[in-house]
Amino acid sequence: MIGRHRAGHKGTAWSGDNGAVTEPARPHHKLTEEGRRVREVLTYARRGSRFTPRQAAAWEEHHERWVIPDTALDDPAFAWSRWFGREAPLVVEIGSGVGEATAALAATRPEVNVLAFEVWRPGAAETMARVAEAGADNVRICLVDAVWSVEHRIAPGSVRELWTFFPDPWPKKRHHKRRLVTARFAALAADRLEPGGRWRLATDWADYAERMVEVLGAEPSLEGGIVGRWTERPVTKFERKGIAAGRSITDLCYQRVR
Ligand SMILES: C[S@@+](CC[C@H](N)C(=O)[O-])C[C@H]1O[C@@H](n2cnc3c(N)ncnc32)[C@H](O)[C@@H]1O
Repeated sequence: MIGRHRAGHKGTAWSGDNGAVTEPARPHHKLTEEGRRVREVLTYARRGSRFTPRQAAAWEEHHERWVIPDTALDDPAFAWSRWFGREAPLVVEIGSGVGEATAALAATRPEVNVLAFEVWRPGAAETMARVAEAGADNVRICLVDAVWSVEHRIAPGSVRELWTFFPDPWPKKRHHKRRLVTARFAALAADRLEPGGRWRLATDWADYAERMVEVLGAEPSLEGGIVGRWTERPVTKFERKGIAAGRSITDLCYQRVR
């Protein structure tokens, strides 16, 4: 659990006028004083939720064990380890898509707990099919917005590795504010990494890669930059799309140094 006193960032909990502490609402649940839904800047776009027969079967077979229910995160005493059934180093993947990297990397790291954030339900279901095929049991999937979850439910200094492979590029300038890698998120993510913990990224958008270098390079607790392709990282759907469109791939790796 993240105690209020441990939160490195403002907004984990706040006091109302009457002094009562209110837990922050998950995205899509925030209401204005008049009871209207708050419009939020989200890093993802809503996509279809229809399952293929394979995804439906995987969901049916595995969701009770592997999917962390959204409502579980409403409990301020929430603990990830409970859902893994063990204490182990935590690896977080944001935007796992159909789980190609998740399944392959988790299967070769049975000693870590891999927490995959993916708001797209068919992707989460496909991930479960792949994790099962890979013979892994150390992946749990959370369909709640990763930005909110990292801020409010992941403790400072608790993440061994963070993976963000091909985050949504939001190529139009007016959408850049929706990109995952911003100065604010970089500070938050750096705070959640263990000392020495790594943040691995990949993108097929040259201007986003440049922006990552700029933003992560300016974060005082991180050191790193562009690296050669992480050989263990399998080629994913979005990487294939990028290559097919003639874009080149940039891998980056940063380490928390203070
Ligand atoms: C461009 S896809 C890349 C998927 C995969 N990593 C790959 O390489 O094929 C980005 C994914 O991130 C997910 N995503 C973006 N922002 C997210 C967030 N804040 N929380 C959870 N998932 C998110 C989207 O739903 C989408 O499936």
